[in-house]
Amino acid sequence: MTTHTRPETRPNARQEELWNGPIGRHWAEQQDRYDAMSGDLNGRLFAAARISGGARVLDIGCGAGTITRIAARLAGPDGQAVGVDISAPLLERARARTAAEAVTNVSYVLGDAQTHDFPRAASTWRSAGAA
Ligand SMILES: C[S@@+](CC[C@H](N)C(=O)[O-])C[C@H]1O[C@@H](n2cnc3c(N)ncnc32)[C@H](O)[C@@H]1O
Repeated sequence: MTTHTRPETRPNARQEELWNGPIGRHWAEQQDRYDAMSGDLNGRLFAAARISGGARVLDIGCGAGTITRIAARLAGPDGQAVGVDISAPLLERARARTAAEAVTNVSYVLGDAQTHDFPRAASTWRSAGAA
C-alpha cells in the first residue's frame, strides 16, 4: 500500500515550528546570554557592513533584534532598519527591547524571509546581519 502525504507548501515549516516553540522561547528568555556569546563578532560584522547615516538596513533572521538596533543607530535619524524573523516570541522580545531603548527607526516583520513579499523600495538596502 502506498501512503500519500500532503506536500508541504511552506518551505521553512520546520524552522517556523522550531522557532515558535520551546527553542524560540528559550532564545527569547536567554537573549542576553546569546548576545554575549556572539558579541565579539559585531566589530567585524559592522566593519564589513559599513552602515552610514541614511542607510536602509534589512536584518534577516533578526531574532531579538540586538544587531538590528545597532544597525539602526548607525543609520541614524535619516535611515532605518527592518528586522525580519519567523519567530513570534523573539520578535516580541525585539519589540519590547526597542521600546525600552527608545530606538525609533526600527521596525520588525514577522515572516519567512524566503517567501515574504518585501516591497521593492530602494537601491540602498544593505545586509547587516544573518542568522
Ligand atoms: C541563531 S538565531 C540568530 C538570531 C539573531 N540574528 C542573533 O544574532 O541573535 C536564528 C534566527 O533565524 C530565524 N529564522 C530561521 N529561519 C528563518 C526564516 N526562514 N525566515 C526568517 N527568520 C528565520 C530564527 O527565528 C532565529 O531568530
